[in-house]
Amino acid sequence: MKVLLIGSGGREHALAWKIAQSPLLDALYAAPGNPGIADHATLVALNVEDHAAVIAFAKEKAIDFVVIGPEAPLVAGLADDLRAAGIATFGPSKAAAQLEGSKGFTKDLCARYDIPTGAYQRFKSAEPARNYVREQGAPIVIKADGLAAGKGVTVAMTEAEALAAIDECFDGAFGTAGAEVVVEAFLDGEEASFFCLSDGKTALALATAQDHKRVGDGDTGPNTGGMGAYSPAPVMTPAMVERTMKEIIEPTISGMAKDGNPFSGVFFAGLMITAKGPELIEYNVRFGDPECQVLMMRLKSDLLPILYATATGTLDKVQAEWRDDAALTVVLASKGYPGAYDKNTPIAHVPEASAEAKVFHAGTALKDGKLVATGGRVLNVTAFGKDVTEAQARAYALTDRVEWENGFCRRDIGWQAVAREKA
Ligand code: AMP
Ligand code: GLY
Repeated sequence: MKVLLIGSGGREHALAWKIAQSPLLDALYAAPGNPGIADHATLVALNVEDHAAVIAFAKEKAIDFVVIGPEAPLVAGLADDLRAAGIATFGPSKAAAQLEGSKGFTKDLCARYDIPTGAYQRFKSAEPARNYVREQGAPIVIKADGLAAGKGVTVAMTEAEALAAIDECFDGAFGTAGAEVVVEAFLDGEEASFFCLSDGKTALALATAQDHKRVGDGDTGPNTGGMGAYSPAPVMTPAMVERTMKEIIEPTISGMAKDGNPFSGVFFAGLMITAKGPELIEYNVRFGDPECQVLMMRLKSDLLPILYATATGTLDKVQAEWRDDAALTVVLASKGYPGAYDKNTPIAHVPEASAEAKVFHAGTALKDGKLVATGGRVLNVTAFGKDVTEAQARAYALTDRVEWENGFCRRDIGWQAVAREKA
C-alpha cells in the first residue's frame, strides 16, 4: 500500500513511525512532515490548503490511502475532496468534523440524543449571554464556538470573570470562532481522554490517556496544546470505558448517521468523570497531540490495516491489541511558549531511540544541515514502563540527554498517576 500522511507535528511523527512498521506498506510520503518523520517517509513540500495539488500528487504517485493528522484540513474538507477523487482517506468529512469545529453543533447533538454533558445555551450576542450567566452564577464555562487553537475556553470561577470572557469573545479575541458563544455548566471531577475509531457504523475502542494542558509544574500557568501525557488513564476503569461507549460514543455514531453526517475517523472524547459518571466536555476529530505519541507506543497491532478499515467501512473486521505497559511523553518546548519564543534555536543532540524510549519530533527543521527548533512544542520524549512511575523515570532520564539550550519541560508529567501508584 502507498500511503500519504498529512501533517508535521509530534502526532504525525508517531503515526509515521507506526505506519512504517507495517508489512503492508510499500511507500510512505508525508506532507509537509518534519526531520523526525523523514526517518520513516519521503517528505513532500505540498501546500495542504491546496486540495487540488494534494489530489494531483496522490494521483501521480498512485497513492492508495491518505491519513490526515490535524483538524484544520479536516474542517476545510480535505477528506471530502480526496474521497470524491476516489482516494481512500482516514479522517471525517467536513460536515462530521463540525463535532470539533463547532462546540454548539456538538452540544445540540448531545441534547438531541441524550448524551451526558453539561447544561448549556448558545448565544450570538453578548447581552443575553451575560443575562444567562447572571441567572446561573459561577463557576461557569464560556466557550468560543469555533476552532481557537485551544484558547477559546474560560473556566470562570467568578461571575466577573465569566462576563469578561463573554465580552472578549464578542470583541473578536478569537476572530470568527468567537462570533457565537456557548455558556456551559461547570463539571466537577477528573478529566480523561478516550480514543475510539468509527467507520460510520461500528466503533472500535482504542485506549485512554491523560494530558497536561497547563504550562507549569503543579498544573499552573496558561493553557498550552499539551505539555505531556500518559496512557492508560487510571480513572478510566473497564466499567467506565463500557459506560462511555454505551452512553456517549454509540449514541454519537448513530446520531451522526441519522442526521446524515456519518462519522468516519477517530473520536477523541474529552471526558469529565463526575459523581454521575462520564460526561462529555468536547469532541476532537483527530488524534490528540501529544496523546497520540503514548497511544502509538502502546499499540501492539499493525496500525495501517486498522486505519484503512476505518476509512473503508470494515472496522468490524479488525481488532486493536495493546501492551499492558504504561507509556508517558514529556514535551520539550521553546522557552517562552505558549507566549512568544525565539525561532531557529540550535538543537545540539537528540538521543537515539532504545527498545523502551523514543524522541518524536514536533516543531523541528533542518537549517543548513543542522537541527533547529522552529515551533513552540518541539520534541516529545516518550517511554514505556511497567507502570507510570517507571515510564516517567525513563522519559526524564532520556529528556536529560537532549542538548537544547532554549528548551524547557514540565518535571511532573504523570503526577496524578504516580501519586496513585504510591498510595
Ligand atoms: P476544551 O478546549 O473544550 O478542551 O476545554 C479546555 C479545558 O477547559 C478542558 O480540558 C477542561 O479542563 C476545561 N473545561 C471545559 N469545559 C468544562 C466544563 N464544562 N466544566 C469544567 N471544566 C471544563
Ligand atoms: N493535547 C490536546 C489536543 O491535542 O487537543
